[in-house]
Amino acid sequence: MDKIVIEGGTPLSGEISISGAKNSALKLMVACLLTDEVLTLTNMPNLRDTRFLGHLLANFGVAVKDGIGNISLHAKTLTSTTAPYDLVRKMRASFNVLGPVLARAHKAKVSLPGGCAIGARPVDLHLNALKAMGAQIELSEGYVIATAKGGLKGAEITFPFISVGATEHSMLAAVLAKGETVLNNAAREPEIVDLANCLNAMGAKISGAGRSEITIEGVKKLSGIKFAVVPDRIEAGTYALAAATVGGAVRLVNVRSDHLGSLWPLIAQAGAKVTMDENSVLVERHGTPIRPVDVETQAYPGFPTDLQAQFMAMVCLADGVSIIRENIFENRFMHCPELSRMGANITVTGREAIIRGVPKLKGAQVMATDLRASASLIAAGLAAEGTTEVGRVYHLDRGFEQIEVKLGNCGARIKRVSE
Ligand code: UD1
Repeated sequence: MDKIVIEGGTPLSGEISISGAKNSALKLMVACLLTDEVLTLTNMPNLRDTRFLGHLLANFGVAVKDGIGNISLHAKTLTSTTAPYDLVRKMRASFNVLGPVLARAHKAKVSLPGGCAIGARPVDLHLNALKAMGAQIELSEGYVIATAKGGLKGAEITFPFISVGATEHSMLAAVLAKGETVLNNAAREPEIVDLANCLNAMGAKISGAGRSEITIEGVKKLSGIKFAVVPDRIEAGTYALAAATVGGAVRLVNVRSDHLGSLWPLIAQAGAKVTMDENSVLVERHGTPIRPVDVETQAYPGFPTDLQAQFMAMVCLADGVSIIRENIFENRFMHCPELSRMGANITVTGREAIIRGVPKLKGAQVMATDLRASASLIAAGLAAEGTTEVGRVYHLDRGFEQIEVKLGNCGARIKRVSE
């Protein structure tokens, strides 16, 4: 198994090009199931999760052609309507095939999902939305068995709380349904807008994506198109926070700075300088101390839960006390014991972590616990004195394209070691 070995203490300096968004790419790939024509995605990140979803789609009979930075997906006919346990358990986003397969084939059998162990993460909202659209749903031996005789029908769906996955899944199911679907209390993440833009380019009629009420007028058929995946705001935020944590100057390019509106003021509050122009963001910190900052995670446009661990790594080194509250997932502080192994002073009580800043972190052997937490350990390792070894890097490979290369190009002393 690979591990990442870091010699800390060198400031970062250079340019990082941001890849296409994992969380968008995964849902866009699933959209190929809705048309018998070719869907080509460009600005595609090359990640374990996207490769993995390619295998799952191939299992349905989709012809998958992987290029450099692009992928072509052709679901001419669906040769299967079953997504087996082995192909779903590793990644929660695979569950989103259920709606499109059901919409197209009027039946689907999909294993209940796995993914990062950051809480219970049920799929009740997904299933209730499909039921509202007329699906019959049965749960049997770890599988969801869904049928929709005559196809799905438009419905008015009000989510009891905001869910990114359930909003996207409902959109994917509703585009080929008969009649109009209205989603109330929908998620507003940029990835939702990206999915709506792609589906609309394919011939869907979705309005309101990016707002709390989304309306989808069902259409009979969607067409193949070429579509560019939106830049990854979480990857961009991760490198911006790494620059603020470690110090130095990092310019992010191929970035949508407007998608990180909640982050920039907080990074500035922590003492880093953020300069934006049309195509790039420069994050710098040269010797000024890190100041403590409180933050709580919220649905977009609030501060993203996917940057919480990376933010924590930064304030571990602040000259005061910060409080971080995690509102989205109930078990997303697994990085705290690992950061503590490096000398951080963190107390977790329920959904809140109190971080008492320390003057320095010390290199240690640590374990990646989930995808985003792994990135926080890398930033902490780069800022720490001595050597840090991050184990279980397969978590990292799920969602960060060539992280050691991108950071290495900025002067970080970081390497991947195969054991
Ligand atoms: C997506 C992102 C993930 C991000 C999260 C929140 C992908 C592949 N993953 O995950 O990186 O951290 O949004 O921004 O895009 N919930 C239920 N029932 C449901 C659905 C969700 O109780 O049916 C709960 C979850 O357990 C969680 C909360 O709702 O506590 C929000 O989850 P959701 O927004 O659905 O996250 P995902 O779509 O799984």
